[in-house]
Amino acid sequence: MDGQVIAVISGKGGTGKTSFCSGVAVALCAVGEKVLLIDADCGLRSLDIVLGMSDRLLFSYADVIKDNCSLKEAAVKHPIVRNLRVLTAPSSIDIGASITAEEISALLQRAREHFTFVIIDCPAGFGPEVMGFAGAADRAVVVSTPDYTSLRGAQRIGEQVTGGGLEKVKLVLNRVRAGMIDTGNSVNIDAAMDAANLALLGVVPEDSDIIACGNLGRVLMLHSQGGARQAFDNIARRLKGERVRLLENVRLRDK
Ligand SMILES: Nc1ncnc2c1ncn2[C@@H]1O[C@H](COP(=O)(O)OP(=O)(O)OP(=O)(O)O)[C@@H](O)[C@H]1O
Ligand SMILES: [Mg+2]
Repeated sequence: MDGQVIAVISGKGGTGKTSFCSGVAVALCAVGEKVLLIDADCGLRSLDIVLGMSDRLLFSYADVIKDNCSLKEAAVKHPIVRNLRVLTAPSSIDIGASITAEEISALLQRAREHFTFVIIDCPAGFGPEVMGFAGAADRAVVVSTPDYTSLRGAQRIGEQVTGGGLEKVKLVLNRVRAGMIDTGNSVNIDAAMDAANLALLGVVPEDSDIIACGNLGRVLMLHSQGGARQAFDNIARRLKGERVRLLENVRLRDK
């Protein structure tokens, strides 16, 4: 196998990276892909909560790198979603900081051999782990909300990773509210692309199902028919190389 490695990044925090990673990973599994989700947020991991797996993840990617266990042991199968495995971050920031970019690159190379997609949920900002993971990835997705502070962060981090040699860097605009765009109270999609200076991979609407599912420990993609779920399905198909219109079937208005 020669899997595709995608680093999911942002300049500012709380833009929706973790929600994006879990949504798109489950959508890819639903169309037959074998997906490894890596939580790279040392000390603040959260994918396990969003995916209802908090009590299952014993080993982290640092344990795999340090040979405390195998990749297969550490990358735990999701209890419901077929073909999805999750590899969590070390709970200590110090352990995360002790890992080199070369070690991260070697880990991702091993992961490529076993999975068709490897999706990395990075912490916000420009820290060394982010640069290590993004530097060894095949492409990056920058997640931003449609406001100028978040978009400036998107532009800066996009610039940083393209400067590091990554060519395929795209924007996902999250928490888009059509009503606010209509009234001129939110940045519209074209203006957001201009501000971030990135091409668009997808648009995800504001959707209260994301918040509800996160709080109930439910997998969004299995419990919602809302706009975000449809947007994640579309983005997964685009990542597979299908031609899907940006907003195909996406309901942009929250309930
Ligand atoms: N499209 C959306 N509609 C409504 N709420 C959303 C949406 N996307 C994310 N959220 C909510 O925003 C919050 C932050 O989302 P998330 O944890 O995915 O962001 P993050 O970028 O991973 O944050 P961090 O930088 O801290 O890792 C969560 O409470 C989540 O439920
Ligand atoms: Mg996160």
